[in-house]
Amino acid sequence: MTSSTTETVAVPATSTKLAAGQKHRVLSGMQPSADSLHLGNYIGALVNWVRMQDEYDAIFFIPDLHAITVPQDPAELAQRTRVTAAQYIAGGVDVDKCTLFVQSQVPEHAQLAWVLNCITGFGEASRMTQFKDKAQKQGTDQASVGLFTYPILQAADILLYQPHGVPVGEDQRQHVELSRDLANRFNSRFGETFQVPEAFIQKESAKIYDLQNPTAKMSKSAESPAGLINLLDDPKTTAKRIKSAVTDTETEIRFDREAKPGISNLLTIYSTISGQPVEKIVADYEGKMYGHLKVDLAELVTNHLAPIRERAHELLADPAELDRLLAHGADKARGIAAATLADVYAKVGFLPYGGAR
Ligand code: AMP
Ligand code: TRP
Repeated sequence: MTSSTTETVAVPATSTKLAAGQKHRVLSGMQPSADSLHLGNYIGALVNWVRMQDEYDAIFFIPDLHAITVPQDPAELAQRTRVTAAQYIAGGVDVDKCTLFVQSQVPEHAQLAWVLNCITGFGEASRMTQFKDKAQKQGTDQASVGLFTYPILQAADILLYQPHGVPVGEDQRQHVELSRDLANRFNSRFGETFQVPEAFIQKESAKIYDLQNPTAKMSKSAESPAGLINLLDDPKTTAKRIKSAVTDTETEIRFDREAKPGISNLLTIYSTISGQPVEKIVADYEGKMYGHLKVDLAELVTNHLAPIRERAHELLADPAELDRLLAHGADKARGIAAATLADVYAKVGFLPYGGAR
């Protein structure tokens, strides 16, 4: 297996040289599988995306084809796709600086996935740990073949755009590795076609934990919603959840992930939202009670999220305009994807439509 990972979002030294004025390309996506993004998605992914769009040629998309690998309610999927897009934009993704689109509106994803399916080994696909976890949850016989080939569709998402970097969480490392393996395999069988992408893995410090169960990652599949901070929740709910966050029985405010996971999580959130280092926050709260920190953090977070929530609701109030922005993004994406797919089709020996070019 070919392995390469960068721990921050810096450009890896091994990357291809660029012409003057050209930027490295990054690509990422988040599934439209909840009614709101949570603070983990926001801090762990979206904030990084927004930061990257100036420095990189950034492509962000909503993988709705991936969403149907597990059963979905159609009306809910459509709504969640719009809600996810609205949150990306409200959170700072600028459609004039980057490319933002919905995966199913760019048919080349499914088309390239088929070709990649045909160069992926059954055993290789069987080793994907996320498939094993998800299939086990549903009972392996119930899991769809789509869920099995999910990582290959993800490889198609990536390879179509020839990106240098794929910013994702640690849980997606294996899928990016597979896309590297498939790129190398295709290139060596059919000739140089794909850029071999690097995984840009976000730093550990960006991980946000469940407020009620602070040793588990904040996740949409949490047992209770009380542990979640959702971008679209009303400020009262958010403040209440922060004030009810589980902490330990000591009183000292300090960062210690092992001994004090609850307080450490609140400090991480405080630090990432305020931009202040954890040490400074700890020093400021010396001698104060947990309650003080919680009250201040509730205010900080609700103030920070208020304009994002308002902007998302504005965007959702005009779905036709939102759909127009997404169609524009899909057109831009197709300009790149269609060229890669045409190259792939020619290399594998498919006849050109309408005769030789
Ligand atoms: P998911 O909602 O699990 O599909 O995750 C979408 C993106 O959000 C991925 O890039 C994750 O790494 C990131 N993410 C999800 N949960 C968290 C969390 N609790 N802390 C930090 N990042 C997260
Ligand atoms: N599988 C990713 C996740 O669950 C989402 C995804 C689909 C993705 N295609 C991608 C991420 C391509 C990066 C690049 O988070």
